[in-house]
Amino acid sequence: MCGIVGSIGRGEGTVDVLMDGLRSLEYRGYDSAGIALGPETTVLRKSGELDALSEVVDATEPTGTYGIGHTRWSTHGPPTDRNAHPHTDESGRVAVVHNGIIENYAALKAELEETGVTFTSDTDTEVVPHLIAQRLDAGVDPETAFHDTVDRLEGSYAIAAIVEGRETIYAARQGSPLVVGVGDGTTYLASDVPAFVDHTRDVVFLEDGQRVVATPDGYTVLDSDRQLVDMAVETVSYTAEATGKSGYDHYMLKEIHEQPTALRQCFSGRADALDGTITLEEVDEIPQPDAVQFVACGTSYHAALYGAAILREMGIPAEAYLASEYALSPPPVSLGTLVVGITQSGETADTLAALRDAKSRGVSTLALTNTVNSTAARECDHAVYIRAGPEIGVAATKTFSSQLVGCNLLAEELVDGPRDLRPLIESLRDLPDDVQSILDSSRAGELVEEYADSDAYFFIGRGTNVAVALEGALKCKEISYEHAEGFPAGELKHGPLALVTPETPVFAVVTGDDERARKTLGNIKEVQARGAPVIAVTDGVSDAAEIADETLMIPETSERAAPVLANVQLQLFSYHLADALGRPIDKPRNLAKSVTVE
Ligand code: AGP
Repeated sequence: MCGIVGSIGRGEGTVDVLMDGLRSLEYRGYDSAGIALGPETTVLRKSGELDALSEVVDATEPTGTYGIGHTRWSTHGPPTDRNAHPHTDESGRVAVVHNGIIENYAALKAELEETGVTFTSDTDTEVVPHLIAQRLDAGVDPETAFHDTVDRLEGSYAIAAIVEGRETIYAARQGSPLVVGVGDGTTYLASDVPAFVDHTRDVVFLEDGQRVVATPDGYTVLDSDRQLVDMAVETVSYTAEATGKSGYDHYMLKEIHEQPTALRQCFSGRADALDGTITLEEVDEIPQPDAVQFVACGTSYHAALYGAAILREMGIPAEAYLASEYALSPPPVSLGTLVVGITQSGETADTLAALRDAKSRGVSTLALTNTVNSTAARECDHAVYIRAGPEIGVAATKTFSSQLVGCNLLAEELVDGPRDLRPLIESLRDLPDDVQSILDSSRAGELVEEYADSDAYFFIGRGTNVAVALEGALKCKEISYEHAEGFPAGELKHGPLALVTPETPVFAVVTGDDERARKTLGNIKEVQARGAPVIAVTDGVSDAAEIADETLMIPETSERAAPVLANVQLQLFSYHLADALGRPIDKPRNLAKSVTVE
């Protein structure tokens, strides 16, 4: 939800640093973009993707020795030029970029309007430069004006501001991510590390309530009482190359193809196939929970459904909850409950709110996340990293696969008792090669040629394959904009079957040959009887391949690993469908990678 950047120091190439930083943060929003440069407070901003701002920059060739920038995902006000950040006060001395929502902005705006301030945008953000300007007019220095303003804000924000004539960037974090890049003679600020990873990998991960004052001489971190805080500088491991497209047309395709590596990284060093042991050092000490509640959103929620299903099969009461519902209608917990937040970014506001609610009720919390040092990782009692590497495409792909492996590792670590883990470990160890064989041979692109004109796409599965069906549908709708729905296969006849026609292909995920698979074969027959073509995503163990009209085959593997493979076929179908329809695959309309508002 919006990306912000800042750069101050040596001063050469500031515009390029800001524009490159925004480019790498576009996954956070792409409704508009803008930069403000000091010391004269030159502001350039434009609705639309970053390319629109680039044209303005190329035409006007602005100069500045430091500056801030923003790429927007709209919350308050439509994606127009006037709502693009940076926002300024009436005199144009103060420029501000913001990610998050200022919940008390209406009251602040009314108060400012009463003093005669005229607003020029529909945003909540605009109150900030006006408040800073008001304090400057009252005679306080810029840093005090900034602190005084931040003290009055309620809600979530990562803010950066510059004030004309003062070679300084002021920044604050409350509920939205903000990191400091410690370069050689230059300090960077950003919503996420990729914005400056070309320049430095030394990072300070700010905490809520903290503020930063950065000058050409360096930076200081202060707490909300304006007291200096000594922060550790950490060196992050990923490189600029890891965040590039490496020759693929889209990040999503690159990330689909990175799955063998991601899965290997997730699994590596955590299991021993000879001994049949799985060890997650991060949670070695946690006693077996009485119950597990997963909280997550979107794709991560689908991973949570999978995680809950496998824990239930192991005899542990487990449920997956949509995080956006959990915090407002929390289910009962006991002291032995473990609440697990699954979140790629570790910054999703709904998931953080659910985890905080759980913590406030005294239960133990765990983050299963891809992002080291993310808010979820830091706020939870425990953190387990899925190690998938940076994921830039808005559509989650490799991180879902790694989340499923992470759920297996976590479940096996948490649940006591002797059992033979060797078959599971072997199947998880073989996943990278199995995924690679799908990537090398998938027919998903050919099916698109046949089905690209369909009215809608349905996805069905049972057991852990319900998660795959829901995820297949989410991927399809978010990047192709086609109508797609996923259902537990047994539910079709209770309503959705009314939607099924010869123009609605049904993807049936059928793995293994147990009762769930056999019952799904019956559901395949039901939709075929209504004329719908059925594409079986199957390992060929049951009769699904013989019954279905088309097949997307996956290698035979364990029951736990099969959903990972089936999902890869559906990722490829959605990708090729969206590509054939000419959609902006990495930046689907109205969406953002990291959703930091509730
Ligand atoms: C799916 O492709 C989306 N990126 C979205 O559903 C995402 O999974 C959701 O917003 C949760 O994000 P998180 O994993 O970073 O918490």
